[in-house]
Amino acid sequence: MSQAPKEDGLTLDGLTKVLGGRVIIDNLNLVVKKGEMVSLLGPSGCGKTTTLRMIAGFLIPDKGDIYLDGKDVTTLGPEKRPSAMVFQNYALWPHMTVFNNVAYPLKVRKLAKPEIERRVHEALSLVNLMHHKDSRPGQISGGEQQRVALARALVQEPDILLLDEPLSNLDAKLRVKVREDIRDLQRRLGITTVIVTHDQDEALSISDRIAVMNSGRIEQFSTPQELYDRPETEYVANFIGSLNHIQGGYSQGQIVPGSEVVGIRPEDVIFSTTQELGSYPTTVELVVPRGHFCEVYLKRADVELRAFISSNVPAAGSIGFARISKALIYKDGKLVRVA
Ligand SMILES: Nc1ncnc2c1ncn2[C@@H]1O[C@H](COP(=O)(O)OP(=O)(O)O)[C@@H](O)[C@H]1O
Ligand SMILES: [Mg+2]
Repeated sequence: MSQAPKEDGLTLDGLTKVLGGRVIIDNLNLVVKKGEMVSLLGPSGCGKTTTLRMIAGFLIPDKGDIYLDGKDVTTLGPEKRPSAMVFQNYALWPHMTVFNNVAYPLKVRKLAKPEIERRVHEALSLVNLMHHKDSRPGQISGGEQQRVALARALVQEPDILLLDEPLSNLDAKLRVKVREDIRDLQRRLGITTVIVTHDQDEALSISDRIAVMNSGRIEQFSTPQELYDRPETEYVANFIGSLNHIQGGYSQGQIVPGSEVVGIRPEDVIFSTTQELGSYPTTVELVVPRGHFCEVYLKRADVELRAFISSNVPAAGSIGFARISKALIYKDGKLVRVA
Protein backbone atom coordinates (compact mmCIF):
# COMPACT_ATOMS: atom_id res chain seq x y z
CA MET A 1 0.00 0.00 0.00
CA SER A 2 1.29 3.42 -0.87
CA GLN A 3 1.57 6.54 1.28
CA ALA A 4 -1.57 8.66 1.70
CA PRO A 5 -1.44 11.65 -0.65
CA LYS A 6 -1.01 15.04 0.96
CA GLU A 7 -2.81 17.02 -1.74
CA ASP A 8 -6.46 17.99 -1.52
CA GLY A 9 -8.84 16.48 -4.04
CA LEU A 10 -9.51 12.89 -5.02
CA THR A 11 -6.94 10.11 -5.42
CA LEU A 12 -7.73 6.65 -6.76
CA ASP A 13 -4.77 4.41 -6.17
CA GLY A 14 -4.66 1.00 -7.88
CA LEU A 15 -8.41 0.37 -7.76
CA THR A 16 -9.45 -3.12 -8.77
CA LYS A 17 -12.95 -4.59 -8.74
CA VAL A 18 -14.14 -8.05 -9.72
CA LEU A 19 -17.85 -8.49 -10.44
CA GLY A 20 -19.53 -11.69 -11.64
CA GLY A 21 -16.11 -13.38 -11.82
CA ARG A 22 -14.71 -10.75 -14.23
CA VAL A 23 -12.16 -8.03 -13.58
CA ILE A 24 -14.27 -4.93 -14.24
CA ILE A 25 -11.85 -2.31 -12.91
CA ASP A 26 -8.22 -3.13 -13.42
CA ASN A 27 -5.61 -1.31 -11.33
CA LEU A 28 -7.05 2.13 -12.04
CA ASN A 29 -5.16 5.27 -10.97
CA LEU A 30 -6.49 8.82 -11.08
CA VAL A 31 -5.79 12.09 -9.30
CA VAL A 32 -8.42 14.84 -9.47
CA LYS A 33 -7.35 18.23 -8.14
CA LYS A 34 -9.51 20.18 -5.75
CA GLY A 35 -12.04 22.29 -7.66
CA GLU A 36 -11.41 20.46 -10.91
CA MET A 37 -14.07 19.04 -13.23
CA VAL A 38 -13.02 15.67 -14.62
CA SER A 39 -14.93 13.41 -17.02
CA LEU A 40 -14.72 9.65 -17.12
CA LEU A 41 -15.30 9.03 -20.82
CA GLY A 42 -15.66 5.66 -22.50
CA PRO A 43 -18.05 3.32 -24.28
CA SER A 44 -20.88 1.55 -22.50
CA GLY A 45 -19.61 -1.26 -20.26
CA CYS A 46 -16.04 0.04 -19.80
CA GLY A 47 -16.53 0.50 -16.03
CA LYS A 48 -17.43 4.18 -15.58
CA THR A 49 -20.40 3.67 -13.25
CA THR A 50 -18.52 1.02 -11.27
CA THR A 51 -15.68 3.50 -10.71
CA LEU A 52 -18.10 6.24 -9.64
CA ARG A 53 -19.89 3.87 -7.25
CA MET A 54 -16.58 3.07 -5.58
CA ILE A 55 -15.80 6.79 -5.20
CA ALA A 56 -19.27 7.31 -3.68
CA GLY A 57 -18.99 4.33 -1.33
CA PHE A 58 -21.75 2.17 -2.83
CA LEU A 59 -19.14 -0.43 -3.80
CA ILE A 60 -15.95 -1.36 -1.95
CA PRO A 61 -12.90 -2.08 -4.15
CA ASP A 62 -11.22 -5.49 -3.93
CA LYS A 63 -7.83 -3.81 -4.13
CA GLY A 64 -6.56 -0.25 -4.00
CA ASP A 65 -7.37 2.89 -2.02
CA ILE A 66 -9.53 6.00 -2.33
CA TYR A 67 -8.48 9.28 -0.71
CA LEU A 68 -10.57 12.41 -0.37
CA ASP A 69 -8.62 15.49 0.69
CA GLY A 70 -5.85 13.21 1.90
CA LYS A 71 -8.17 11.05 4.03
CA ASP A 72 -8.51 7.32 3.33
CA VAL A 73 -12.24 6.69 2.70
CA THR A 74 -11.86 3.34 0.89
CA THR A 75 -14.18 1.37 3.16
CA LEU A 76 -16.48 4.12 4.45
CA GLY A 77 -20.19 3.91 3.57
CA PRO A 78 -21.72 6.58 1.30
CA GLU A 79 -23.26 8.53 4.23
CA LYS A 80 -19.86 8.75 5.92
CA ARG A 81 -18.04 10.39 2.98
CA PRO A 82 -18.13 14.02 1.90
CA SER A 83 -19.45 13.06 -1.54
CA ALA A 84 -22.85 13.30 -3.21
CA MET A 85 -23.96 11.46 -6.31
CA VAL A 86 -26.51 12.22 -9.02
CA PHE A 87 -27.74 8.96 -10.52
CA GLN A 88 -28.34 8.36 -14.20
CA ASN A 89 -32.13 7.99 -13.74
CA TYR A 90 -32.30 10.79 -11.08
CA ALA A 91 -33.90 8.35 -8.57
CA LEU A 92 -36.41 10.94 -7.28
CA TRP A 93 -39.26 9.90 -4.97
CA PRO A 94 -42.46 10.30 -7.07
CA HIS A 95 -44.78 10.77 -4.08
CA MET A 96 -42.67 13.51 -2.45
CA THR A 97 -42.66 17.19 -3.37
CA VAL A 98 -39.57 18.75 -4.90
CA PHE A 99 -38.84 20.35 -1.53
CA ASN A 100 -39.03 17.02 0.32
CA ASN A 101 -36.92 15.23 -2.30
CA VAL A 102 -34.15 17.75 -1.80
CA ALA A 103 -34.61 17.79 1.99
CA TYR A 104 -34.42 14.00 2.21
CA PRO A 105 -30.66 13.55 2.72
CA LEU A 106 -30.70 16.24 5.43
CA LYS A 107 -33.65 14.60 7.22
CA VAL A 108 -31.75 11.31 7.19
CA ARG A 109 -28.92 13.17 8.93
CA LYS A 110 -31.45 14.53 11.41
CA LEU A 111 -30.60 18.19 10.90
CA ALA A 112 -32.78 20.79 12.64
CA LYS A 113 -35.86 21.90 10.69
CA PRO A 114 -34.86 25.57 10.19
CA GLU A 115 -31.42 24.47 8.97
CA ILE A 116 -33.04 22.04 6.52
CA GLU A 117 -35.37 24.74 5.27
CA ARG A 118 -32.57 27.23 4.77
CA ARG A 119 -30.34 24.79 2.89
CA VAL A 120 -33.11 23.40 0.68
CA HIS A 121 -34.14 26.91 -0.33
CA GLU A 122 -30.54 27.75 -1.10
CA ALA A 123 -30.07 24.61 -3.23
CA LEU A 124 -33.35 25.13 -5.10
CA SER A 125 -32.38 28.74 -5.82
CA LEU A 126 -29.02 27.60 -7.19
CA VAL A 127 -30.79 25.46 -9.80
CA ASN A 128 -33.62 28.02 -10.34
CA LEU A 129 -36.40 25.80 -9.08
CA MET A 130 -37.87 27.63 -6.12
CA HIS A 131 -41.15 28.10 -7.99
CA HIS A 132 -41.52 24.31 -8.21
CA LYS A 133 -40.81 23.47 -4.59
CA ASP A 134 -44.35 22.16 -4.00
CA SER A 135 -44.59 20.25 -7.31
CA ARG A 136 -44.10 16.52 -7.59
CA PRO A 137 -41.52 15.02 -10.01
CA GLY A 138 -44.32 13.83 -12.35
CA GLN A 139 -45.52 17.41 -12.77
CA ILE A 140 -42.22 18.88 -14.00
CA SER A 141 -40.13 18.35 -17.15
CA GLY A 142 -37.16 16.00 -17.53
CA GLY A 143 -34.73 18.91 -17.39
CA GLU A 144 -36.33 20.17 -14.17
CA GLN A 145 -36.21 16.70 -12.63
CA GLN A 146 -32.53 16.62 -13.48
CA ARG A 147 -32.07 19.91 -11.61
CA VAL A 148 -33.94 18.54 -8.59
CA ALA A 149 -31.52 15.62 -8.51
CA LEU A 150 -28.64 18.10 -8.74
CA ALA A 151 -30.10 20.21 -5.91
CA ARG A 152 -30.48 17.09 -3.78
CA ALA A 153 -26.74 16.47 -4.23
CA LEU A 154 -25.70 20.11 -3.67
CA VAL A 155 -27.82 20.49 -0.51
CA GLN A 156 -25.44 18.05 1.17
CA GLU A 157 -22.62 20.58 0.62
CA PRO A 158 -20.34 17.80 -0.57
CA ASP A 159 -16.59 18.17 -1.06
CA ILE A 160 -16.96 16.15 -4.24
CA LEU A 161 -19.87 15.92 -6.65
CA LEU A 162 -20.36 12.71 -8.64
CA LEU A 163 -22.57 12.76 -11.73
CA ASP A 164 -23.45 9.58 -13.63
CA GLU A 165 -24.50 10.46 -17.21
CA PRO A 166 -26.67 13.29 -15.84
CA LEU A 167 -27.78 14.44 -19.29
CA SER A 168 -28.54 11.13 -20.98
CA ASN A 169 -32.32 11.38 -20.47
CA LEU A 170 -32.59 14.85 -21.98
CA ASP A 171 -33.19 15.70 -25.63
CA ALA A 172 -30.24 17.01 -27.66
CA LYS A 173 -30.99 20.73 -27.35
CA LEU A 174 -31.69 20.69 -23.63
CA ARG A 175 -28.58 18.59 -23.08
CA VAL A 176 -26.36 21.38 -24.37
CA LYS A 177 -28.08 23.96 -22.18
CA VAL A 178 -28.04 21.85 -19.01
CA ARG A 179 -24.40 20.88 -19.46
CA GLU A 180 -23.52 24.58 -19.63
CA ASP A 181 -25.59 25.21 -16.50
CA ILE A 182 -23.77 22.41 -14.68
CA ARG A 183 -20.39 23.73 -15.77
CA ASP A 184 -21.33 27.24 -14.67
CA LEU A 185 -22.54 26.05 -11.27
CA GLN A 186 -19.46 23.88 -10.80
CA ARG A 187 -17.18 26.86 -11.52
CA ARG A 188 -19.12 29.19 -9.26
CA LEU A 189 -19.12 26.76 -6.34
CA GLY A 190 -15.57 25.55 -7.10
CA ILE A 191 -16.69 22.04 -6.28
CA THR A 192 -14.52 19.06 -7.24
CA THR A 193 -16.60 17.10 -9.73
CA VAL A 194 -16.36 13.75 -11.50
CA ILE A 195 -18.84 13.33 -14.33
CA VAL A 196 -19.40 10.09 -16.22
CA THR A 197 -20.28 10.24 -19.89
CA HIS A 198 -20.04 8.23 -23.11
CA ASP A 199 -20.47 11.42 -25.17
CA GLN A 200 -17.21 12.95 -26.38
CA ASP A 201 -18.79 16.34 -27.17
CA GLU A 202 -20.10 16.57 -23.66
CA ALA A 203 -16.73 15.63 -22.14
CA LEU A 204 -14.78 18.00 -24.42
CA SER A 205 -17.06 20.95 -23.70
CA ILE A 206 -17.29 20.85 -19.91
CA SER A 207 -14.15 19.18 -18.52
CA ASP A 208 -10.90 20.57 -17.22
CA ARG A 209 -9.47 17.12 -17.89
CA ILE A 210 -10.83 13.91 -19.38
CA ALA A 211 -9.95 10.34 -18.38
CA VAL A 212 -10.59 8.11 -21.39
CA MET A 213 -11.47 4.61 -20.17
CA ASN A 214 -11.04 1.29 -21.95
CA SER A 215 -11.99 -2.04 -20.33
CA GLY A 216 -11.59 -0.95 -16.72
CA ARG A 217 -8.43 1.08 -17.27
CA ILE A 218 -7.59 4.67 -18.06
CA GLU A 219 -5.96 4.98 -21.50
CA GLN A 220 -5.18 8.68 -21.26
CA PHE A 221 -5.85 11.49 -18.79
CA SER A 222 -5.36 14.93 -20.34
CA THR A 223 -6.98 18.25 -21.10
CA PRO A 224 -9.53 18.23 -23.97
CA GLN A 225 -7.04 20.02 -26.22
CA GLU A 226 -4.19 17.57 -25.51
CA LEU A 227 -6.49 14.60 -26.07
CA TYR A 228 -7.54 15.97 -29.40
CA ASP A 229 -4.09 17.12 -30.58
CA ARG A 230 -2.06 14.22 -29.26
CA PRO A 231 -4.08 11.07 -28.67
CA GLU A 232 -1.54 8.67 -27.19
CA THR A 233 -3.26 5.53 -28.47
CA GLU A 234 -5.29 4.64 -31.55
CA TYR A 235 -8.15 3.82 -29.20
CA VAL A 236 -8.21 7.39 -27.86
CA ALA A 237 -7.79 8.87 -31.36
CA ASN A 238 -10.85 6.92 -32.50
CA PHE A 239 -12.90 7.88 -29.51
CA ILE A 240 -12.16 11.61 -29.61
CA GLY A 241 -13.03 13.27 -32.87
CA SER A 242 -12.85 11.63 -36.24
CA LEU A 243 -9.88 9.93 -37.91
CA ASN A 244 -8.79 8.50 -41.28
CA HIS A 245 -6.80 5.30 -40.74
CA ILE A 246 -4.33 4.31 -43.41
CA GLN A 247 -2.09 1.26 -43.24
CA GLY A 248 1.32 2.42 -44.42
CA GLY A 249 4.02 4.90 -43.65
CA TYR A 250 4.30 8.67 -43.78
CA SER A 251 7.09 10.72 -45.27
CA GLN A 252 7.23 14.38 -46.28
CA GLY A 253 3.48 14.83 -46.22
CA GLN A 254 2.85 11.72 -48.30
CA ILE A 255 1.44 8.30 -47.56
CA VAL A 256 4.09 5.75 -48.49
CA PRO A 257 4.31 1.96 -48.12
CA GLY A 258 4.98 0.90 -44.53
CA SER A 259 3.79 -1.10 -41.56
CA GLU A 260 2.43 1.67 -39.35
CA VAL A 261 -1.00 3.21 -39.04
CA VAL A 262 -1.22 6.78 -40.29
CA GLY A 263 -4.05 8.66 -38.57
CA ILE A 264 -5.27 11.85 -40.20
CA ARG A 265 -8.02 14.10 -38.86
CA PRO A 266 -10.46 15.04 -41.65
CA GLU A 267 -9.86 18.73 -40.85
CA ASP A 268 -6.14 18.19 -41.49
CA VAL A 269 -6.81 17.22 -45.11
CA ILE A 270 -6.53 20.46 -47.08
CA PHE A 271 -8.25 20.52 -50.46
CA SER A 272 -7.50 22.98 -53.22
CA THR A 273 -8.36 23.33 -56.90
CA THR A 274 -4.79 24.38 -57.65
CA GLN A 275 -1.60 22.49 -56.95
CA GLU A 276 0.35 23.61 -53.89
CA LEU A 277 3.65 22.54 -52.41
CA GLY A 278 3.24 18.97 -51.14
CA SER A 279 -0.24 18.43 -52.56
CA TYR A 280 -1.17 15.62 -54.92
CA PRO A 281 -3.94 15.13 -57.48
CA THR A 282 -7.12 13.60 -56.14
CA THR A 283 -10.67 12.79 -57.24
CA VAL A 284 -13.72 13.97 -55.33
CA GLU A 285 -15.80 10.81 -54.88
CA LEU A 286 -18.65 11.95 -52.66
CA VAL A 287 -19.81 15.11 -50.84
CA VAL A 288 -22.02 14.81 -47.76
CA PRO A 289 -23.41 18.06 -46.26
CA ARG A 290 -23.02 18.17 -42.46
CA GLY A 291 -24.45 21.58 -41.66
CA HIS A 292 -21.67 24.12 -41.25
CA PHE A 293 -19.20 21.93 -43.17
CA CYS A 294 -19.17 19.13 -45.77
CA GLU A 295 -17.67 15.70 -45.44
CA VAL A 296 -15.78 15.12 -48.68
CA TYR A 297 -14.43 11.72 -49.78
CA LEU A 298 -11.23 12.06 -51.78
CA LYS A 299 -9.46 9.28 -53.63
CA ARG A 300 -6.04 8.80 -55.15
CA ALA A 301 -5.06 5.35 -56.42
CA ASP A 302 -6.26 3.09 -53.59
CA VAL A 303 -5.97 5.64 -50.77
CA GLU A 304 -9.26 7.19 -49.67
CA LEU A 305 -9.32 10.21 -47.35
CA ARG A 306 -12.23 11.91 -45.69
CA ALA A 307 -11.91 15.70 -45.47
CA PHE A 308 -14.03 18.28 -43.63
CA ILE A 309 -14.38 21.33 -45.84
CA SER A 310 -16.38 24.44 -44.93
CA SER A 311 -15.75 26.82 -47.83
CA ASN A 312 -15.29 26.37 -51.59
CA VAL A 313 -16.69 22.86 -51.34
CA PRO A 314 -15.87 20.92 -54.53
CA ALA A 315 -18.48 18.97 -56.51
CA ALA A 316 -18.55 15.18 -56.63
CA GLY A 317 -16.71 13.92 -59.69
CA SER A 318 -14.38 16.91 -59.88
CA ILE A 319 -10.61 16.76 -59.65
CA GLY A 320 -8.37 18.75 -57.32
CA PHE A 321 -5.36 18.57 -55.04
CA ALA A 322 -5.04 17.37 -51.44
CA ARG A 323 -2.41 18.09 -48.85
CA ILE A 324 -2.05 16.62 -45.37
CA SER A 325 -1.21 19.21 -42.70
CA LYS A 326 -0.81 16.83 -39.77
CA ALA A 327 -0.54 13.07 -39.25
CA LEU A 328 -0.53 10.89 -36.14
CA ILE A 329 1.63 7.80 -36.59
CA TYR A 330 0.76 4.70 -34.54
CA LYS A 331 2.61 1.43 -34.11
CA ASP A 332 0.94 -1.43 -32.22
CA GLY A 333 -1.78 1.01 -31.19
CA LYS A 334 0.64 3.49 -29.57
CA LEU A 335 1.52 6.94 -30.84
CA VAL A 336 5.12 6.98 -32.11
CA ARG A 337 5.22 10.43 -33.67
CA VAL A 338 3.25 13.43 -34.85
CA ALA A 339 4.26 14.71 -38.27
N1 LIG B 1 -23.10 -6.25 -10.09
C1 LIG B 1 -22.51 -6.67 -11.20
N2 LIG B 1 -22.29 -7.98 -11.43
C2 LIG B 1 -21.69 -8.41 -12.56
N3 LIG B 1 -21.26 -7.60 -13.53
C3 LIG B 1 -21.43 -6.28 -13.37
C4 LIG B 1 -22.08 -5.75 -12.20
N4 LIG B 1 -22.11 -4.40 -12.32
C5 LIG B 1 -21.53 -4.12 -13.50
N5 LIG B 1 -21.12 -5.24 -14.13
C6 LIG B 1 -20.43 -5.30 -15.43
O1 LIG B 1 -19.31 -4.47 -15.36
C7 LIG B 1 -19.07 -3.85 -16.61
C8 LIG B 1 -18.94 -2.36 -16.40
O2 LIG B 1 -20.19 -1.84 -15.98
P1 LIG B 1 -20.42 -0.28 -15.73
O3 LIG B 1 -19.46 0.19 -14.74
O4 LIG B 1 -21.87 -0.11 -15.41
O5 LIG B 1 -20.08 0.31 -17.16
P2 LIG B 1 -20.38 1.76 -17.79
O6 LIG B 1 -20.93 2.63 -16.71
O7 LIG B 1 -19.05 2.23 -18.30
O8 LIG B 1 -21.33 1.53 -18.91
C9 LIG B 1 -20.22 -4.26 -17.51
O9 LIG B 1 -19.77 -5.30 -18.35
C10 LIG B 1 -21.27 -4.74 -16.55
O10 LIG B 1 -22.06 -5.72 -17.15
MG1 LIG C 1 -22.81 3.56 -16.60
